[in-house]
Amino acid sequence: MAKNVVVVGMAWGDEGKGKIVDLLAEQVAAVVRFQGGHNAGHTIVVENEKLVLHLIPSGILHEHVQCYLGNGVVISPQALLSEIKRLEEHGINARARLCISHACPLILSSHVALDKAREAASGTEKIGTTGRGIGPAYEDKMARRSIRIGDLYQWETAKERILNLLGYHNFLLEQYYQVDPVDADLELEVISQFAVDIKPLVKDISAALQWHRERDDNILFEGAQGAMLDIDQGTFPYVTSSSTSAAGACVGTGFGPRYIDHVVGVTKAYSTRVGEGTFPTELHDDVGKQLAERGAEFGATTGRPRRCGWLDAVALKRAAQMSSISSLCLTKLDVLDALESVRICTDYELPNGQPFRGDFGERGLREIKPIYTEMEGWLESTADCASSDDLPVEAINFVHCVEDLLNVPVSIVSTGAQRESTIMRDDTLFS
Ligand code: GDP
Ligand code: IMO
Ligand code: MG
Repeated sequence: MAKNVVVVGMAWGDEGKGKIVDLLAEQVAAVVRFQGGHNAGHTIVVENEKLVLHLIPSGILHEHVQCYLGNGVVISPQALLSEIKRLEEHGINARARLCISHACPLILSSHVALDKAREAASGTEKIGTTGRGIGPAYEDKMARRSIRIGDLYQWETAKERILNLLGYHNFLLEQYYQVDPVDADLELEVISQFAVDIKPLVKDISAALQWHRERDDNILFEGAQGAMLDIDQGTFPYVTSSSTSAAGACVGTGFGPRYIDHVVGVTKAYSTRVGEGTFPTELHDDVGKQLAERGAEFGATTGRPRRCGWLDAVALKRAAQMSSISSLCLTKLDVLDALESVRICTDYELPNGQPFRGDFGERGLREIKPIYTEMEGWLESTADCASSDDLPVEAINFVHCVEDLLNVPVSIVSTGAQRESTIMRDDTLFS
């Protein structure tokens, strides 16, 4: 029996989803993105060559894998075309392996301008977005004004709607934010060319996934961002504008929830966050600096330094619940190699001793104090380790501690960026 598996980030993104999806893609026929846009940056390293994917699913390197962008993904024409081109330059025929839902909303240049103008006008209240127009594009989807890819094939109607929408955006840009408007003629030219370029890839993705199901194919759903950036359950308002949990895999593709067999939650062995917002376990000391350096913690999309801190089991427990995670993937264990002791946050405490009430929004988190358990470090290299037998006992204890705290088995441990630097503790995901 084929299996349908969802991979999601459990924290604030950048957990190493790209590496894991690429690795698991070996065993599947299809890889599907279901939310987010080119705010994501998923890194794959093969034979020391690094490739960062933003929109295209991380299964694209495998010749036998068909990649899909589901209706939940917002698409920047420029970003998609340049990513396809970049892959072609690497000798990967992305066009032959990619299909895009006709229901994907477009990110227009005016969405990008609005995102940037809003951030600039927000001063200290800014979210620290990636500036890719993600928030404004999802706003227009919810407001039922988006231009969807399928709309472009009735060009005269689409043209009118695009001009209307640009008129509205330009009004906001000029009158409210007092910045330059976008050039409507140029935008129309870009979009009409994009429509022609992309036409052979546009499909009914819900039907395509049903076709895979009927053929008994394994399907992998690739989440972007992470649980704490979820629009509903995350650290609101310092979140992204989509549903990053496993439930998003269904609404973002038109695949039924009863067909999902497993959900893999990916977390680093510590925490990172890019952008603004409370980060309970953030470190401002030398340990934080060491994690950033050893983990090369710079954003794969914007290049911004990532804030670093200890693993937060309270946030991860929430992520495990809301995505019904059936197994964990613990990445970047090797980054902790040089630490004498390692901490995990096991509880949040409020100033007056009251218990944490589960409000992961900014207001709920700002007040809490993290409570830690501390354990011995291993002070030896686990880098590129590929077998549990080669892990130091302290590192094994750390893995067990995470399993116990979350009550979910760790089936994959990652010890380096390459495919080979992986310990498969349980390889039965697709069997
Ligand atoms: P994603 O957004 O979840 O796909 O993660 P990113 O690609 O943004 O960030 C993860 C970074 O860590 C990338 O540079 C990966 O190449 C790297 N990486 C992934 N797994 C490991 C690991 O186990 N150890 C180390 N040292 N690096 C890793
Ligand atoms: P991957 O898929 C880390 C963060 C931004 C900002 C907030 C809102 O690589 O894990 P947005 O542009 O989405 O409106 O920004 O979300 N953010 C990410 N942080 N990894 C990501 O993606 C992110 N995508 C968005 O930094 O705080
Ligand atoms: Mg990333």
